[in-house]
Amino acid sequence: MKTTLLLLGLLLSPAAFGETVDAATCGACHEDVASAFARGPHGAAMTRRSPAVFSSSCVACHGDGKAHVDDPKKENISRIPAPGACLSCHAASGTTPLTTPAHARGQVGCLSCHASGHDAPKADPLLGARPHDLCGSCHESQKSAAKLPYAHRDGSRPFDCTNCHSVHGKTRVGRLTLLGNGGPCLDCHAEKAGPWVFPHAPREVNGCVACHQPHGSTNPRLLTRRAIQPLCLECHSNLPSTHDQTKGRYRNCISCHRAVHGSNHEPKLFEE
Ligand code: HEC
Ligand code: HEC
Ligand code: HEC
Ligand code: HEC
Ligand code: HEC
Ligand code: HEC
Ligand code: HEC
Ligand code: HEC
Ligand code: HEC
Ligand code: HEC
Repeated sequence: MKTTLLLLGLLLSPAAFGETVDAATCGACHEDVASAFARGPHGAAMTRRSPAVFSSSCVACHGDGKAHVDDPKKENISRIPAPGACLSCHAASGTTPLTTPAHARGQVGCLSCHASGHDAPKADPLLGARPHDLCGSCHESQKSAAKLPYAHRDGSRPFDCTNCHSVHGKTRVGRLTLLGNGGPCLDCHAEKAGPWVFPHAPREVNGCVACHQPHGSTNPRLLTRRAIQPLCLECHSNLPSTHDQTKGRYRNCISCHRAVHGSNHEPKLFEE
């Protein structure tokens, strides 16, 4: 009895059984598309997870295929995955790739950044382009700042935006997290982090961007001001009377206050 049912199940199309349509059924008509997807990075990754995940993937993205299988018209299938389609698989994983609040507000969907896996992706993981161009297609001012005379570049190649930003909210969500002491600058410039016995307060309060422009600058050292003196005077307008600003000697603040990021020796930031 059991065997008969099993055989029936195999003979009848899943559609007739009211189950979801599997990849093999779609592939019977979409041979090239289905086999290219299976060989691509997304299909291959799904199969590694489990063949059943791959098998259910066509309908997970394109929607219930039963009507389309019975009457294979365009109108009976969604070409573009519905919102939430990706999360039907990815929300369940341990690395929950949710979007940032700002991208959610801006209605930037998964496919604004990711490729489906039907075609060879332009960059890993399954991205529509290298992050600099991908992100820059919407964030033009940050992209063009990377061309300024002083910017984070590896030779002539700008740093990837993802060196500092994570769009999946794991560690570097948005503005505020970026500004914190554990912000992305310290991944590479740990020596500026201290902890100092005498930290320079602005880093504690506003982060590195109190004095540096992260995306690029016309000023050396990516500073927010062309010269040191106006940068320091922005916050230190009440200087000791010894600091005669008509004298050149007292204008180059960092010739004396060298430990601009913090000091372990004295509070006036003369030496690190
Ligand atoms: C019996 C053959 C057949 C089966 C089975 C079939 N399709 Fe199709 N599919 C077609 C044909 C034919 C078209 C083109 C229809 C047209 O141009 O109007 C098409 C078109 C499509 C399109 C493009 C729609 C568009 O708007 O351009 C998608 C996506 C699609 N199918 C996905 C699927 C998926 C997913 C499955 C499995 C659930 C599937 N198909 C099963 C025959 C089939
Ligand atoms: C991760 C989501 C996703 C999965 C899984 C997926 N597709 Fe697609 N598929 C898309 C997207 C997005 C497009 C639209 C691509 C475009 O318009 O450039 C598409 C387009 C198509 C088309 C139209 C292609 C054309 O050139 O006209 C067919 C047919 C299709 N998919 C079939 C399948 C089949 C069969 C499977 C399972 C083997 C599958 N898809 C799995 C997202 C997916
Ligand atoms: C049927 C389930 C399923 C659906 C639907 C699905 N994915 Fe996936 N996807 C997977 C699995 C499984 C992996 C492999 C994960 C792993 O290895 O940990 C994966 C991997 C990925 C990766 C990483 C690829 C890499 O090279 O590391 C990205 C990016 C991705 N999916 C994006 C998407 C997007 C965007 C959508 C919607 C358009 C989507 N996925 C829909 C199951 C799915
Ligand atoms: C603003 C662009 C953008 C959007 C929107 C986006 N992603 Fe990503 N995604 C990326 C980038 C870039 C990476 C590479 C990780 C990194 O470098 O931080 C990535 C990585 C991934 C990975 C690989 C696993 C991992 O955690 O590293 C998966 C899976 C994934 N995204 C799925 C999704 C899903 C599902 C959605 C929609 C809910 C989505 N992404 C929305 C840009 C985006
Ligand atoms: C399809 C367009 C689009 C793409 C592609 C895109 N973004 Fe965005 N991004 C937006 C929108 C819209 C907002 C919200 C702007 C607002 O609220 O003013 C935003 C906001 C942001 C913010 C501000 C976050 C905050 O909390 O204020 C950052 C940082 C950001 N994106 C980084 C990235 C990075 C990095 C990438 C590439 C991996 C990327 N974006 C790709 C459209 C995009
Ligand atoms: C060296 C690290 C770094 C790189 C590389 C980087 N960013 Fe940023 N980004 C930051 C920091 C830090 C902030 C916070 C700036 C602030 O609040 O003044 C920020 C803020 C932003 C914002 C919010 C608006 C703003 O300007 O304050 C957007 C959008 C953004 N970045 C997009 C991008 C894009 C797109 C790229 C790649 C073209 C990129 N970033 C590359 C560090 C970086
Ligand atoms: C992925 C690693 C990385 C991250 C993240 C990073 N930097 Fe850098 N930074 C570098 C490298 C590499 C250099 C070049 C060092 C050199 O040429 O000696 C550099 C140079 C600099 C310079 C000196 C520029 C000059 O003209 O001499 C400043 C200032 C700077 N970074 C500030 C920051 C700030 C602020 C952040 C956070 C917004 C940050 N960096 C994030 C790697 C990084
Ligand atoms: C109070 C303003 C201020 C703050 C806040 C600040 N910097 Fe600086 N930074 C400077 C100045 C001024 C210079 C130039 C020093 C020089 O030319 O000798 C500099 C130089 C640098 C340099 C390049 C020269 C070197 O010593 O390697 C790096 C890298 C750097 N800063 C990273 C950072 C990081 C990372 C943070 C956040 C932890 C940060 N800065 C916070 C003012 C600041
Ligand atoms: C974004 C604002 C800001 C900038 C820009 C800034 N500082 Fe400061 N600085 C502070 C604050 C706040 C304190 C802590 C003052 C206090 O505790 O009274 C401080 C403390 C100091 C101290 C120790 C003062 C004391 O009372 O012991 C020195 C020295 C100093 N800064 C020098 C500089 C120099 C030199 C520059 C330019 C390279 C600079 N600062 C740029 C905000 C700033
Ligand atoms: C020639 C060395 C020298 C230069 C250049 C210099 N300072 Fe100082 N600064 C000192 C000394 C010494 C002290 C402590 C004694 C005093 O108050 O005069 C001091 C103290 C300070 C203090 C702490 C004041 C307080 O109330 O405790 C600040 C803030 C400061 N300097 C900022 C600056 C700024 C901003 C510049 C550039 C415009 C600058 N300094 C240039 C030597 C210098």
